[in-house]
Amino acid sequence: MRQPNNFNFVAPFYRWLSLMVYGRKLEAVQHTHLNLIEPGANILVLGGGSGEILNHLPADSHITFLDLSEAMLDQAKKKRRVHFVHADFLQWESTEHFDCIITPFFLDCFAPDDLQTAIQKIKVLLQPDGRLIVVDFYHDGRRTTGFLLRLMHLFFRWTANLSSGKLQDIHATVLQEGFFCIEKQEERGSTFSAVYIRSGDE
Ligand SMILES: C[S@@+](CC[C@H](N)C(=O)[O-])C[C@H]1O[C@@H](n2cnc3c(N)ncnc32)[C@H](O)[C@@H]1O
Repeated sequence: MRQPNNFNFVAPFYRWLSLMVYGRKLEAVQHTHLNLIEPGANILVLGGGSGEILNHLPADSHITFLDLSEAMLDQAKKKRRVHFVHADFLQWESTEHFDCIITPFFLDCFAPDDLQTAIQKIKVLLQPDGRLIVVDFYHDGRRTTGFLLRLMHLFFRWTANLSSGKLQDIHATVLQEGFFCIEKQEERGSTFSAVYIRSGDE
């Protein structure tokens, strides 16, 4: 059986690497749709890493922050006191339902089968009228973007045992798994933030 993704090794320099390659772009795009979160919402952050996003979520929200990397979680715990869960999302079981689920650069970690499984799990965990906010990479078709994305994937495949060898079409897969997109913003080049509801619930 394949070992799960492991970001412990890259955790100490992940943010530095991200700033060096993308500047503040990867952090900024994560904030695009956070203003749509209702006050007092019950939020699940998946693969939140070192927790940069935590200080941008409403003060009165109830937050569950899940990540598989203990080293990432140790950094996130210094940012804000929320409910931290150390788990592989693909194995995690919960009876709770969330008003909002956020996946900041999380779904790109998965190979096609696991990506489908992850989105199906998200669908079950979301309240019927809940919102899914996906922030991730996309390929705009340009050779240079494709090259950078491929390089990045190979780097994380090597350092973090990433199950995905190349970037999947995340937006298309989310739609395919029964979500309806209500807002989408693409940042020129390679990142997007989109808000989805479960289709049939619109
Ligand atoms: C590319 S990093 C993004 C970190 C952070 N969201 C950011 O934007 O800086 C992906 C994160 O997802 C976590 N992750 C990957 N696979 C996971 C899984 N199966 N279950 C839970 N977390 C996972 C990693 O540990 C890592 O912290």
